[in-house]
Amino acid sequence: MVQFILRRLFNGLPLSYRARRRWEWSRSFPLPNYTEHTPTIDGMGPLDIFLPPNPATLGAAAQEAMPDVERALARLTQTDEVAGVQTYYRAARERFGRHWRYADLLTTLWAAGTLSPLRTYLEIGVRNGRSTAIVGAVSPTCAIYGFDLWTDEYDGVANPGPEFVREQLQAVSHTGDVELVQGDSRKAVPAFLRDHPQLYFDLITIDGDKSTLGWSSDLAAVLPRLKVGGILISDDIFLAPHLGRLWDEVIRHDSRYVTWEFAQGGVGVAAAIRMSDGPLLAPLH
Ligand SMILES: C[S@@+](CC[C@H](N)C(=O)[O-])C[C@H]1O[C@@H](n2cnc3c(N)ncnc32)[C@H](O)[C@@H]1O
Repeated sequence: MVQFILRRLFNGLPLSYRARRRWEWSRSFPLPNYTEHTPTIDGMGPLDIFLPPNPATLGAAAQEAMPDVERALARLTQTDEVAGVQTYYRAARERFGRHWRYADLLTTLWAAGTLSPLRTYLEIGVRNGRSTAIVGAVSPTCAIYGFDLWTDEYDGVANPGPEFVREQLQAVSHTGDVELVQGDSRKAVPAFLRDHPQLYFDLITIDGDKSTLGWSSDLAAVLPRLKVGGILISDDIFLAPHLGRLWDEVIRHDSRYVTWEFAQGGVGVAAAIRMSDGPLLAPLH
């Protein structure tokens, strides 16, 4: 009875979950340490203008990308996760036809690769290479740098490891360089970036550790290496309030970025396009 009343009081969520959410929400977190002279995707001359996609364009392309993503997924090993996405897409199309509007991590990655030439891609949280392979399919020569713990199982799903990811990339005819680093991203990513001081990225996905400290540490590590004009994408950000808060504080309120978010069902996906080296401060008059 007491349990029942407490659950009603806390929106039906178990107390331990509520407490953990509140704890995650209130924790302090590291911020990115930006440096100057960040490279630009390309185009800073009079004939070669700087023209990254704006958020509305990226969002529109992400909502049109489902058929392309389906074709790419059909080339992968048909794991439960791949089959799950295909079933969802098919059911939505059958039920809602041309009215269906939808975006997720996969369609947003496809959109980013269609709208911008990708030379370098960094992904934290690779698992079986499903999202990595979407980038490999849309940009077959892009150099890919992936990070994951690759423990035997993640969230009840087998996590076979880097060799399986390489096979998925071959299946979509990706021919660019691939570097896959196993380890905790909080240490592995900063160490890797320290060893590669000249490496900057056209596209970055954060889809690994979803705790406040894990997610913000990943953001802090990679944001200074996102090229001006480059795109950062994060999955699941509407799954838990602490991720939304971090997104707002670290990215959406930073005038270096313009953002697009899709939170209408599913776990939510968010993208930020870096528009400048330093913050663009509005004049105060
Ligand atoms: C949601 S899955 C990634 C799914 C993948 N991006 C996709 O779309 O198919 C999250 C992955 O993050 C990895 N991960 C979680 N915590 C991590 C950490 N601290 N360091 C590195 N990888 C981590 C897990 O092993 C898991 O494979």
